[in-house]
Amino acid sequence: MQRLYRKRIVLGVGGGIAAYKSAELVRRLRDQGAEVRVVMTQGGREFITPLTLQALSGHPVHMDLLDPAAEAAMGHIELAKWADLILIAPATADLMARLAQGIANDLLTTLVLATDATVALAPAMNQAMWRDAATQANAQLLEQRGLRLFGPATGSQACGDVGPGRMLEADDLAQRAADCFQRQSLTGKHVLITAGPTQENIDPVRYITNHSSGKMGFALAEAAVEAGAKVTLITGPVHLPTPDRVNRIDVVSARDMLAACEAAMPCDLLIASAAVADYRPEVIAAHKLKKDPSTGDGLLLQLVRNPDILATLAAREDRPFSVGFAAETENLLGYAARKLKDKNLDLIVANDVANPTIGFNSEENAITIIDRDLQASSFAQTSKGKIARQLVAFIAERLTRA
Ligand code: C5P
Repeated sequence: MQRLYRKRIVLGVGGGIAAYKSAELVRRLRDQGAEVRVVMTQGGREFITPLTLQALSGHPVHMDLLDPAAEAAMGHIELAKWADLILIAPATADLMARLAQGIANDLLTTLVLATDATVALAPAMNQAMWRDAATQANAQLLEQRGLRLFGPATGSQACGDVGPGRMLEADDLAQRAADCFQRQSLTGKHVLITAGPTQENIDPVRYITNHSSGKMGFALAEAAVEAGAKVTLITGPVHLPTPDRVNRIDVVSARDMLAACEAAMPCDLLIASAAVADYRPEVIAAHKLKKDPSTGDGLLLQLVRNPDILATLAAREDRPFSVGFAAETENLLGYAARKLKDKNLDLIVANDVANPTIGFNSEENAITIIDRDLQASSFAQTSKGKIARQLVAFIAERLTRA
């Protein structure tokens, strides 16, 4: 199992002798499936070469805040947004002091201020420097602000001293990085997620479908597993790998999807992110339809309504906590609120598919969640992975209140 599958990690390398272990750390993070981008401080470059870390991470190392070429490739704000986790290893006493003060005088410290990702530090320094009251106060302050501290370990040090201040080993750091994505908020819950488009056949070679890629539903499945849930993911035809520990069931049409959902019941939570076709051809032709001269230039397809999967499951006696999606191109919140009521939902997630940067098939999303009291909560545009984790955390909190 790759515990960091597709997670985006910025590895910050500070100026300490433990930087030699950062090379191994890049390997261990990638072994666990992470995408790694390395940022080095000036001091870090004195201990290990950028070339080593570039070769191991497979990407150029980011070093300077004010380098026009690097900024053109991936600017510092973009990199800060890209990250799911910023892991600084080694984190020197100086770096910790600068972070505690909110100083942003190089690329790494600037990223920490600019990111909404989790930030973790692996302190590495001489034992006396670690024990110093200033460092201890900084460590405490950073933890209070929500930064994670991994270590340090106690033992013999490069300088010959013995005591606390050794950077944790690469394996241990990679496991702790993975733990950052693990939550308990849905432990013991069965979560049913629908995803992707449905495909409604016209004849043996043609069908009606839509632009849904399934990315949001798959990201939700991953986030729900990380939150401790047992996840059943029922998906229409998509080109996506199955997230670890997710029970995936592939279906084609809306009716297949409904049948698969009913078979997977009961569940505690239903998240319906599938873009289900509202209509299907009344009859599926047994043979490929031919151009028929008697109908002139036209072809009339008789369509009939598909069942509403979400509304059907939300109407059951063993109804789960039900969350729907409203992908709209206009009057977003109005339509979303109406759907919440019509389908008897607990929450509805509205997203504006007219905006090409967050619509179907895009990598990012921005959402507004509306509850039964018509209270709206918005999450700003970011990667679908991050939106999924925020949404799952929000839903889990409402579920425990319900
Ligand atoms: O009515 P509309 O299709 O806009 O509603 C969107 C929400 O309802 C989504 O959560 C979608 O997954 C769900 N839905 C469904 N079955 C349908 C149509 C929509 O589960 N036939």
